[in-house]
Amino acid sequence: MDQLLITGGHPLQGEVRISGAKNAALPILAATLLAETPSYISNVPHLHDITTMMHLLEEMGSTFVIDDHFNIEANSQNVQKFTAPYEMVKTMRASILVLGPLLARFGEAHVSLPGGCAIGARPVNLHLQGLAAMGADICVEGGYITAQAKRLQGTTLCLDVVTVTGTENLMMAATLAEGNTIIENAAREPEIIDLAIFLNRMGARIEGAGTSTLRITGVEKLYGARHRVLPDRIETGTYLIAAAMTGGKVKVNHTDASLLDAVLLKLLEAGVTLSHGNDWIEVDMQGRRLRAVDIHTAPHPGFPTDMQAQLTAMNTIAEGVGMLTESIFENRFMHVSELQRMGANIRIEGKTAIVKGIERLQAAPVMATDLRASAGLVLAGLVAEGDTLVDRIYHIDRGYERIEEKLTQLGAHIRRV
Ligand code: EPZ
Repeated sequence: MDQLLITGGHPLQGEVRISGAKNAALPILAATLLAETPSYISNVPHLHDITTMMHLLEEMGSTFVIDDHFNIEANSQNVQKFTAPYEMVKTMRASILVLGPLLARFGEAHVSLPGGCAIGARPVNLHLQGLAAMGADICVEGGYITAQAKRLQGTTLCLDVVTVTGTENLMMAATLAEGNTIIENAAREPEIIDLAIFLNRMGARIEGAGTSTLRITGVEKLYGARHRVLPDRIETGTYLIAAAMTGGKVKVNHTDASLLDAVLLKLLEAGVTLSHGNDWIEVDMQGRRLRAVDIHTAPHPGFPTDMQAQLTAMNTIAEGVGMLTESIFENRFMHVSELQRMGANIRIEGKTAIVKGIERLQAAPVMATDLRASAGLVLAGLVAEGDTLVDRIYHIDRGYERIEEKLTQLGAHIRRV
């Protein structure tokens, strides 16, 4: 079990390159199941979840050619198995994203129900209700979803809750359905826009991506396309907060400031000096102390829930009291007890964590529980007095490419043990 050992107190300086977005690359890889010919996808992050998704698609008959920059050629011409087994789905919930494409192109799918995870029950009822409304026969038994459809029928859907992968699954399913599909209350995340751009390049006809109303006109066939995955806005925000917390000066490259307005505005509110160009953002916090900020997580363009743990860590050492309300997931404060072990002054009342900033955290052995919570603990380790040992960092490897290398380049004292 790998661990990260971090010696705190070193302001980060320098430049870091942001990788492609995990949560865009995953649905885009699933979307290659829809294509009659190969697709070429670049700027794919080299992450455990990505290799898991490729193994899952290989099980079905897809083939991949990967170059040494991890650019991927995906070929789903010979897919003849339509099953996503529990052994694979349990390690990565995003496997549910093969459901829509399999149903749309092959008319059948046998996908393990993705169990809950540390942060919540993570139901997929809206994915299934939407597909059923499009004419699929859906049966859930023995922990598996079995779905069949001669050909999906376009219809009007309205999602009870804004769901990112639910929107992605239904958008992909609608591309090959008979007739038109409207999806109301769709998620508006940038990763949805990136997926829609890829699908339209494949020959799909999707309008409204990035708004809460998607209009999809079904077509007969889709063909492989070229696509460059957009930058990871959560990785970007994580490094910006690392620079701010350590009182450093860092420039993040190969990113896009327009993907994380809500995060940048909160950093400005916290007193950070920010500048940006079309593909870079620079943070300067040298010699100054952060002010505490309040956040309320919400679907895009609101403050992203995937940045809540990182901002909680930032508030632990900021001036004043910060209130963090987590409205998306029911159990996304597991980093709090670990931060408290480092001396943080945090009280949880219902969905809100109340954080009173202190001068300095104290190093302690802590345990990662989910991807973004572990990022919050690494940030805390960067500023704590002493050596922090973060355990179970396989969570981190799922979402952050070479995190200790990138942080070491910026002057952090961090190593994998
Ligand atoms: C996506 O998860 C992301 N994962 C998550 O990132 C992210 O935290 C989340 O969106 C919210 O932004 C990927 O894109 C692979 P949801 P997803 O469906 O789609 C409820 C990370 O760190 N809901 O938008 O699973 C659900 O319970 C991960 O990379 C239903 O009730 O999240 C939650 O309360 C963690 N029924 C809310 O919607 C459904 O059928 C939002 O969940 C689906 C969702």
